[in-house]
Amino acid sequence: MSITEISRLDAQARAILKENDRGGYTVPTKGLYPFQWNWDSALVALGYAAFDTGRAWREIETLLEGQWGNGMVPHIIFWRDDAGYFPGPGEWDTRRSPPTSGITQPPVVATVMRRLFARSGPPDPGRLDAMLKAIDRWHQWFADARDPNGTGLVAIVHPWESGRDNLPDWDHPMSYVDISKVGTYQRRDTQHIDAGQRPAKTDYDRYMALVQFGRSHGWDDKKLADHSPFWVADVGTNAILRRAEHDLAWLAERAGETAIAERARLRGANLARGFDGLWSEKLGGYVSMDLRRGRLAEALTAGSWLALYAGEGDPARIARMAGLLEQWLEPVGFGLPSFDPGHPLFDPILYWRGPVWAIINRLVADGLTRAGLTKLAERIRADTEALIRKAGFYEYFNPVTAEGGGGDSFSWTAAMWLDWASPTADKIGGLEV
Ligand code: GLC
Repeated sequence: MSITEISRLDAQARAILKENDRGGYTVPTKGLYPFQWNWDSALVALGYAAFDTGRAWREIETLLEGQWGNGMVPHIIFWRDDAGYFPGPGEWDTRRSPPTSGITQPPVVATVMRRLFARSGPPDPGRLDAMLKAIDRWHQWFADARDPNGTGLVAIVHPWESGRDNLPDWDHPMSYVDISKVGTYQRRDTQHIDAGQRPAKTDYDRYMALVQFGRSHGWDDKKLADHSPFWVADVGTNAILRRAEHDLAWLAERAGETAIAERARLRGANLARGFDGLWSEKLGGYVSMDLRRGRLAEALTAGSWLALYAGEGDPARIARMAGLLEQWLEPVGFGLPSFDPGHPLFDPILYWRGPVWAIINRLVADGLTRAGLTKLAERIRADTEALIRKAGFYEYFNPVTAEGGGGDSFSWTAAMWLDWASPTADKIGGLEV
């Protein structure tokens, strides 16, 4: 790629972030996602860090401003009205100010903060302390509300909490969700994006049934833990939380918050023990588990390799996962597909059932680097660079044809370019520096 092309893409990525900046928070993309999303904001902060560290910290602060009294940081904050989105504040009915959804998303924030801190030092100390306290409360909420029996695995109560909305992992647990009382509603996503690329109607009915369930129980943690029809240990969320505890401890240590560091280490150790239960000897990787039925998912997903990002230490398992990753990459032109390309349910354009996502690539590549698999990490980065160069800053990409899918001018894709995929990015090692 020529220097001019690289600087054109670097400039375009910065322009996308600025265009999607709503003053302190960034929308994932115009139209389709007009509010602040949880893990989008965290990852977008990495993009800002490439040219404006102050703005990067601010993105995290606005996200934490949506935190609930019980510690949960919600998956959407509805800072402004927008009739073009469904389900909006009225459907969630969480009675908060600002209005929010009633569920969370993968807690990648502490890991992002560690990178901001390592690259350019803390924001002023009062601000860092406040952020660390908020994150400690959020992680503690995961432990208390989503693992009330202390098993070391945290549950999600809605596929949307995984951030990988229509993954085949959810098909079986979701088949138990009763949709007979859902009623009629008007989706908005299919007004922005071709319906063939979005979740199917029955999937959407089940998503809405779970929103209605939470709402009718006042989003009460205990009621959700006891009765939620969907109670699943997502391999992605568990890996991301486990890593986040490690990074929270690191940050808290440096900020002199030793009590927070100690709590994070204890929770992290418990999560490491629980994570072992997600290992599938049959598949040779870690997968999600339906906790209501004690049933492991039947295929690997891109999230399986987040085990390395979480800190997998078993050499035999690492070798097996590395071998499988190479097998996955063979039939597709561009890695990493979100779902097993050899599986009958693989679909290269259907959202989380096949397409490549730059953010997952970023986290998986970090894990590969940590495990010493630098060649594979570089392959994933180079593929991400090639996809963005060929298609543009799309929400996700077809791993076979390199076409872009979903929303265009997508914030987190632009951020991953600036932070990591661009040849000009400061990508010394993994996310830890
Ligand atoms: C979709 C994705 C989710 C993301 C959101 C906003 O719902 O599945 O991960 O946070 O869009 O980009």
